[in-house]
Amino acid sequence: MTVFKHHGEMLTEKRSENGFRVVRRGRRFGRFYRQRSWHWVFFLAALFLMCSVPFALKFFSHGKLESRALNTQEVQEVTSDTVKPRSNRTRRCLDNPISLCQFDSKFWKLFWLFDTILLLFFPINLSDFACIIGFSESVTEIVELNDFMNFSKFSLDYIEKEDKPSTTNFFEPRFGGHQSLQEREKSFYAENQTLHCGFVKGPPQFPSTGFDVDVKDRTYMNTCKVVVSSCIFGSSDFLRRPTSRMISGFSKKNVCFVMFVDEQTLLTLSSEGSIPDDEGHIGLWRIVVVKNLPYKDMRRTGKVPKLLSHRLFPSSRYSIWLDSKMRLQADPMLIIEFFLWRTRSEYAISNHYDRHCVWEEVVRNKHLNKYNHTAIDEQFIFYQSDGLTKFDPSDPNTPLPSYVPEGSFIVRAHTPMSNLFSCLWFNEVDRFTSRDQLSFAYTYLKLRRMNPEKPFYLNMFKDCERRQMTKLFKHRQLSPPSVT
Ligand SMILES: *[C@@H]1O[C@H](CO)[C@@H](O)[C@H](O)[C@H]1NC(C)=O
Ligand SMILES: *[C@@H]1O[C@H](CO)[C@@H](O)[C@H](O)[C@H]1NC(C)=O
Ligand SMILES: *[C@@H]1O[C@H](CO)[C@@H](O)[C@H](O)[C@H]1NC(C)=O
Ligand SMILES: *[C@@H]1O[C@H](CO)[C@@H](O)[C@H](O)[C@H]1NC(C)=O
Ligand SMILES: *[C@@H]1O[C@H](CO)[C@@H](O)[C@H](O)[C@H]1NC(C)=O
Repeated sequence: MTVFKHHGEMLTEKRSENGFRVVRRGRRFGRFYRQRSWHWVFFLAALFLMCSVPFALKFFSHGKLESRALNTQEVQEVTSDTVKPRSNRTRRCLDNPISLCQFDSKFWKLFWLFDTILLLFFPINLSDFACIIGFSESVTEIVELNDFMNFSKFSLDYIEKEDKPSTTNFFEPRFGGHQSLQEREKSFYAENQTLHCGFVKGPPQFPSTGFDVDVKDRTYMNTCKVVVSSCIFGSSDFLRRPTSRMISGFSKKNVCFVMFVDEQTLLTLSSEGSIPDDEGHIGLWRIVVVKNLPYKDMRRTGKVPKLLSHRLFPSSRYSIWLDSKMRLQADPMLIIEFFLWRTRSEYAISNHYDRHCVWEEVVRNKHLNKYNHTAIDEQFIFYQSDGLTKFDPSDPNTPLPSYVPEGSFIVRAHTPMSNLFSCLWFNEVDRFTSRDQLSFAYTYLKLRRMNPEKPFYLNMFKDCERRQMTKLFKHRQLSPPSVT
């Protein structure tokens, strides 16, 4: 079964334009990170290739005679080099850049052949090199623009409690509440409103709807102004501490790094020697234990801290989410400056490195058996009937560079529009499948469609930029696949 899947995966990926990706995807994320070093090998190879092209041209146009002459000249030079000072030769090379590359013709002939073969099989995508992020030099350089918060203004309230309707006997309180379709439709209007956004409690006699956090942790979370958060539920990952030397003293002091874990994960971490200190920290992470997980599906539970950071950290102005499979390797304030302030955005998320169309994503999710097929179909049919269209890369006015996000890294300002979008997206995950890539574009497009007057500044950045800031690891093997 796995072999078949693996094979099928390779086949689907071959349709992509980039041969290199076939290898990367085929092996899944395990060896994912090596690709960066491979890039450099390829890049150097390409450099050599460029050097050897002039020689090759010469070789083929002037024939072997000249090449031999070149050889003898070079041999002479090499022998004389041992006697004469090196500076002379260097100067000669600099006068004529092409000659820099002409040391030994046989060597270059071989290299030229090797490069051609290499590039034939592993084409380099030069645009990947365009992803080096130009962060500010330091945090002290960052000035939050005065008019940065010039975003759509309205006020949101959240439904805190639902009572048992008098018409039904059976009532089960849900973390996401019981939103009707009419309420759902209304919630998309960017105006003063009270909407469902998780954390809905039942009447007093009912058990908690979940995501319970200790009072001490709650107090701490209430103080955070800027947050980096992540979660591990069901021991699905190891704890990856942010690369400390990349994090400024300012951020260490002013940014809350919060890792949400369930009790099982805490036990696993403790058994491995990662024990929180008296204040609940392991390294930079403040470990917050969540009791009463609201969903049986750990992935769906993971969407609560992922999408609802403005609810968990009510006084925070900015938040960064990263999946626990990644290690943060950049300063959070620099990230906020780069992705939000500089582009005047209120929400930043990376696009998927390969898939841009929700149709593809649906096929993919079914193919990998990521979720109950019937549930995926129900969601997708609903979205199509409500106006979801295919991504059109040739459309210059396309509202998004891609309809499929790679949601493992999200940077957001907690503005009304951004908070509304987060709530709406979470409600889709709560109502339909937990595969949030399926609902992202629909939610965004519907929000835009229903509020033509109120802009939502979403910055969809390149996936390769995300890879510059984080290091990706494999999930822990023991995690049971949670297919619902
Ligand atoms: C290179 O990658 C970019 C996006 O990362 C993509 O738009 C472009 O089509 C790719 N080019 C080739 C030749 O693969
Ligand atoms: C440097 O090379 C020139 C010819 O290119 C030669 O005339 C000169 O003597 C050389 N100088 C030294 C220091 O070897
Ligand atoms: C702020 O937004 C309003 C409308 O949304 C616009 O008219 C105004 O020019 C913006 N101000 C700045 C400084 O961008
Ligand atoms: C929305 O709420 C804000 C304060 O919460 C208030 O100032 C504003 O007038 C309200 N707008 C409307 C249209 O009710
Ligand atoms: C799949 O989803 C459908 C509709 O949501 C549901 O009726 C069915 O029981 C689910 N199947 C499984 C195996 O969970």
